[in-house]
Amino acid sequence: MSSPGTRTRGCIEPPTLVAIREAADLLRAGDIVGMPTETVYGLAADALNPEAVSKIFAAKGRPADHPLIVHLPSAEHLPRWAASIPKDAIALARAFWPGPLTLILKRTAEVPDEVTGGQDTIGLRVPSHPIALALLQVFDSGIAAPSANRFGRISPTTAAHVHEELGERVAMILDGGPCAVGIESTILDFSRDVPEILRPGAITPEDIARVIGRRPRVRGEVEPVPAAAVSAPAPRVSGALAAHYAPRTPLRLVNATQLVEHAALLAAEGSRVAVLAHATPNPDDSRLIWQAMPSDPAAYAQDLYASLRAVDALNADFILIEALPEGPAWRALADRLGRAAVGSGAGDSP
Ligand code: TXA
Ligand code: MG
Repeated sequence: MSSPGTRTRGCIEPPTLVAIREAADLLRAGDIVGMPTETVYGLAADALNPEAVSKIFAAKGRPADHPLIVHLPSAEHLPRWAASIPKDAIALARAFWPGPLTLILKRTAEVPDEVTGGQDTIGLRVPSHPIALALLQVFDSGIAAPSANRFGRISPTTAAHVHEELGERVAMILDGGPCAVGIESTILDFSRDVPEILRPGAITPEDIARVIGRRPRVRGEVEPVPAAAVSAPAPRVSGALAAHYAPRTPLRLVNATQLVEHAALLAAEGSRVAVLAHATPNPDDSRLIWQAMPSDPAAYAQDLYASLRAVDALNADFILIEALPEGPAWRALADRLGRAAVGSGAGDSP
């Protein structure tokens, strides 16, 4: 690794204790660094330093009113950031932290407006990646970190992806290897009348129900509750924008039964087509670039963003993705693919 002081901006560092301490020092000095988490890589800044937080928005090209998730070393830090903590939220923190669950709670006055987009709530989580936890423990305070991609693009799941997205915009990137979960955390909003999942993730509504004894509402699902109960305005969640997590190449979701035919038709018209699928390709169609995807949902999630990034880099005319199976374990993935399809093909301006 490069020695402190001689480092080039944006360099990828093995996660030695020296590098972790240096990353903490950079955060204390108001700079931004790439940080591995178990979900996706984050773009980290000192959450109590508004100027440092503003660098996140500049580096990502993200609108300033989009709130950030604050990462904590442990649940003991909650009272500094959250003004009221419902007992169900405490139970969920005990059950799933460290891990891929973000809780939206009412914030304390100490939290800068820059972090929350001026809202009276804050997103909090304790990540389980050992390097993220080590950095948080050395830093000993909250680290604001959105996914370390340019706004609207595919989230990074390796240190090299972060470098590709942000280059010298970050002071350094801690290399924690490929992310184990591979898609962003489940976001559960506790700030309004009933708990509601704003963004699906590896922790499902069923997992949450097992801990709190009731299934949370899920944004976008048919409402079983009376309309009066949902009158409070919904908070802003950039991950809830229809066009998000998007490759530059136009992307279509196609049912397994039509996939081979659809791909062959496009290829016959002269298009270069990349396919991500469980289905087996037509063995004699060499015009297609076929990438096999895992049939287990956890392994699929781990692979998804790296595969999307890889096929996007081929500059094909189309990416076809086999539509996913039904079932709770596939829902967060279906959500991401749906958004990737809507946002795809936008070139360099998301
Ligand atoms: O897994 C993750 O959550 C990753 C890793 C780095 O921790 N982070 C991540 O951050 O996905 P980001 O900024 O890309 O997505 C966080 C989402 C955004 O859509 C944001 O709008 C929403 O969380 N969010 C943050 N604070 C919120 C709040 N107070 N109310 C509602 N939504 C909030
Ligand atoms: Mg993001």
